[in-house]
Amino acid sequence: MTIFPEMFDAFAGHGIMRRAVESGKIRLEPVNIRDFAEGRHRVTDDRPYGGGSGMVMKPEPLAAAIETAKTELPEAPVVLLTPQGRRFDQDTARQYAACKEMIFICGRYEGLDERICEGYVDDEISIGDYVLTGGELPAMVVMDAVIRHIPGVLGAADAAECDSFSAGRLEHAHYTRPGVFEQKQVPGVLLSGNHRAIEDWRRESALLRTILRRPDLLEQTGLTEPEKKIVQK
Ligand code: ADE
Repeated sequence: MTIFPEMFDAFAGHGIMRRAVESGKIRLEPVNIRDFAEGRHRVTDDRPYGGGSGMVMKPEPLAAAIETAKTELPEAPVVLLTPQGRRFDQDTARQYAACKEMIFICGRYEGLDERICEGYVDDEISIGDYVLTGGELPAMVVMDAVIRHIPGVLGAADAAECDSFSAGRLEHAHYTRPGVFEQKQVPGVLLSGNHRAIEDWRRESALLRTILRRPDLLEQTGLTEPEKKIVQK
């Protein structure tokens, strides 16, 4: 639900998302909240009670849009994108992927009338501690992360379970041809054809990056036994 449905055209029209739509694995249907607004001007926002700057999204068009969607998707959880929500992460992406249908509400202006949040919204999600001008980009971020977990959307080679992030670790470094670029050589082990050694190198690279860049990820899970050995080295 958005007042800018066209923003989703580019999202659904390219790459993996387009393939998933064309193959029928997902259906994405932007709903224009304005279509549910009354009056000649179909106004979707109004001044805040109590005064102050900014505008608030009116409750009636949103309620009508959600009610209409719910008649077709009675089981769908209603998720509001807002910087005040709980932080989105890979676990939530995986949980959402188990839902057959979902309804995302993209807020604009200062926010939604609180009575919509209380009466119609099941989950409030933030994609990070910064404020964007609307919930459209966050909704696309969330949908992208969720859709990758739906079986058949990614090819077997880059299946979401293989993301090292799924195991709470950053990805290892990647290289492709040429073997030498600006005097920098690809690590020799990657050219060795020794799959055990390559696997070990990748695990080590992933762990090292995680320690250096995101030690908080390791605090959550602790080190596995093979990782403890790598650290001791
Ligand atoms: N709307 C505006 N900023 C947002 C954010 N950081 N996350 C989710 N929705 C938002």
